[in-house]
Amino acid sequence: MNVQWYPGHMTKAKRNMQEDCRLVDLIIELVDARVPLSSRNPDIDRLGQGKARLILMNKSDLADPALSAVWKAWFESRGAFVVLLDARASSGMKAVNRVIEEACHEKRERDRKRGILNRPVRAMVVGIPNVGKSTFINTFAGRAAAKTGNKPGVTRGNQWIRLNKNVELLDTPGILWPKFEDQQVGIRLAAIGSINDNILDLTELCGYVIRFLHKKYPGALRKRYPAVEEETAAKENGAYAILEEIARLRGCVGRGGEPDVDKAVLLVLDDFRSGRLGQATLEEPMR
Ligand code: G4P
Repeated sequence: MNVQWYPGHMTKAKRNMQEDCRLVDLIIELVDARVPLSSRNPDIDRLGQGKARLILMNKSDLADPALSAVWKAWFESRGAFVVLLDARASSGMKAVNRVIEEACHEKRERDRKRGILNRPVRAMVVGIPNVGKSTFINTFAGRAAAKTGNKPGVTRGNQWIRLNKNVELLDTPGILWPKFEDQQVGIRLAAIGSINDNILDLTELCGYVIRFLHKKYPGALRKRYPAVEEETAAKENGAYAILEEIARLRGCVGRGGEPDVDKAVLLVLDDFRSGRLGQATLEEPMR
C-alpha cells in the first residue's frame, strides 16, 4: 500500500516549528499510545535539544494498557518524562502539571542560581496531525484555547496562555510531519485513522487490521462479531472472507443478496479506530 503525504505543508510546518522551539523551555510532545513510535517524528529530538521534554502518550484509553506500560518505561529509559493520557478528560491534567514541574526543575534551579525568580516556564505542544494536540490544549488550559483541526491557512496566533503562575503555553500547537519513508509507519497511521481515507485502499487496510487483530488480540473479532470464523484470517484471502461474513451478519447486502464488502470495511475500521474491537497497540518497542 502506498501512502502519500503533502511535502509542501510539511516544509512550512518544519520552519514554523524551528521558530517556535526557540521561544520555549519545555516541549510537550503528544504521541498516539496505539502507535507510540510511528506517531512521532524523531526530528523533534534535534529541534528540541537542550529543552526539557515531556511525552504525553495520548489516546491511551484506546491502547493496550500492558503495552502502554512497556512503552512508558521505554521512553523513560531514554530520558523523557512520560504521562499516559486521555486528552478529553480533565482528570489526567493534575498528573501533567506535576510532571511539568518535575521536567522543569533543572531550569528553575538554573534560573534561581542566576538570581531569576518566578519566571514562568514557557511550553509548547507538538505532534503529528490528529494526535490530540488541540484537544489537550483545550482541556489543559480549561477553555477553548486552541483552534481544533489542522486546516492549512488557520492564522497562527502565537499567544501565550497563562496556565498558572509557573507555566505559560503557546496557544498554537506545532505540527510535526510523520516519517513516511517507512511504509509500515504509513499503514499503522492509516489503521488508526490519522491519514485521509480518500487516498487509501481501504479493503487492503482493513485486511491488515483483521490479520493484526487475529494474531495479536485473538478473540477480539469474535467478541464483536459473534459467529465470525476468526481463524480464517490466517488463510490466503481470509480477511476478505471474514469481511464477507461480517457484511452478511450485519445485513450489509446488495440487491441480489451479495455481501457489500465496502460497507463491512467501513464498519470494521470504525469499530477498530473507536476502540469497539478492544484496546489495541499496533507496535512494540524493539528489544
Ligand atoms: P490535533 O489537534 O492533534 O490534530 O488533534 P485533535 O485535538 O483535533 O484530535 C483529533 C481527534 O482525536 C478528535 O476526534 C479528538 O476528540 C480525538 N481525541 C483527542 N484526544 C483523545 C483521547 O485521548 N482519546 C480519544 N479516544 N480520542 C481523543 P474527532 O473525532 O476528530 O473530533 P470530535 O468528534 O471528537 O470533536
